[in-house]
Amino acid sequence: MGEIQFQLIDPLLPDAQAEEMLKLCERYGSYGMYGEESIEDDMGEGLTQRHDAVLNFLKTGGRGGRNEPLARLAARTNYFREEYAYAEPLVKGIEPVLGHPGFIEASKKLYGCSIVEPSIVYANILVPGQELTLHTDVPEFRGINRKSDPQWLIVAMHHSGLFDKWRMRIATGVSWFGHPRGGGFVFYPDGPYGPPVEHSVRHNTAILLDTDSVFHGVNPVLERDEPMPDLRPGMRLRFAGDGRWQLQDGDGVLARYSWDDLRFSISWKAYCYQDEAEQQTVKSHTDDLTRQKVLGVLSQDLEKRGRFDPEANETALALTIIEEYIHFPPPAPSLANQQPS
Ligand SMILES: [Fe+2]
Repeated sequence: MGEIQFQLIDPLLPDAQAEEMLKLCERYGSYGMYGEESIEDDMGEGLTQRHDAVLNFLKTGGRGGRNEPLARLAARTNYFREEYAYAEPLVKGIEPVLGHPGFIEASKKLYGCSIVEPSIVYANILVPGQELTLHTDVPEFRGINRKSDPQWLIVAMHHSGLFDKWRMRIATGVSWFGHPRGGGFVFYPDGPYGPPVEHSVRHNTAILLDTDSVFHGVNPVLERDEPMPDLRPGMRLRFAGDGRWQLQDGDGVLARYSWDDLRFSISWKAYCYQDEAEQQTVKSHTDDLTRQKVLGVLSQDLEKRGRFDPEANETALALTIIEEYIHFPPPAPSLANQQPS
């Protein structure tokens, strides 16, 4: 960790450019639902990719502290997401966020790094009734990433602290545009056992932090008189012109929203390197981890902790790894009472 835990940026952009981000969001026009991908890996078969966060969500009922069936809870947390940039802009007009000097400077301070390489910019939209369950993001290690390995495993690797030498340091900037009701950003800057900070989101402001280490989530977006529709993967949120949006299942319209009903944020992620030598090690793959090495190190450590069962199948081992290394903040009862009525 460098000198800072997080940095607020207010305002993020000149007024006219911030308005342009809302127009860009409209122009992009159609947003798919980001749902749980199922695991297609021998390791942890039957678990979800983010089994760590799902278990915690079910235990606590999420930010709203609700007692609801699993499908309903999943619908609350499967928000809408599309990419605006992937190293290069994918949509015209995103350049001011992709290369934002404030994000780059804050990233350097966060990790004490000299090289910052913006990698991805994406939009997140939550509709009324949705929230984002507490989690840390999926980190990355040299040789290990979400394309080749289960997400819960990569998360556990980081929380174990056993693989820091191979960690890719990633800075995340989250910026907000528009005027949502509710949907505060909650995070634990002093670790899972420190006090949570609830940051109300305001138009054209941002926060930069290490979301791979700091637990964070989004409080429920204010639900209107109509209950939240049964959101399912495959549905889309489309701009309908004149500041209006609609939730569509194929051609059918399930709900209509105005801008103020939605919570729109733009996330920015960048790789941070100490120096060119580190950047070179990453690009040349001269010191990469393998899954076999990772499981060897974790099994040895579990053995030291008296938690290794040589008879256990891979799913049982996966659950032990999640339980042993990923420690969520304790449930905060006061937040459960703050859910919008
Ligand atoms: Fe996140």
